[in-house]
Amino acid sequence: MRNVISYYSLLTTKPRGKYNVQVCTNIACMLRGGEELFTHCKKKLGIGHKGTTPDGIFTLEEVECIGACSWAPAVQVNYDFHENLTPEKMDKVLDNYKKKGTQ
Ligand code: FES
Repeated sequence: MRNVISYYSLLTTKPRGKYNVQVCTNIACMLRGGEELFTHCKKKLGIGHKGTTPDGIFTLEEVECIGACSWAPAVQVNYDFHENLTPEKMDKVLDNYKKKGTQ
């Protein structure tokens, strides 16, 4: 069972934050700044891959292609996609979720 859970990124044994921030660093996104975006998110949120912020609002994950290559670099937060991101745009995205998460 543990092997199945660890294989599928949607399954987990640990509780996740209210918003699951999945940053794609696969080839299209990597070529357009996906890795820098993931590093930026790690710094901003103060957590690493599969980490959850102490307030329980965010979980961060580095993921493989999420099917939004034409709009790279792309991030999926729960069921919403955010595309053509820069660190500045990502800050706004995270700030908006933070506001929503603390209301
Ligand atoms: S490579 Fe990032 S969405 Fe496809």
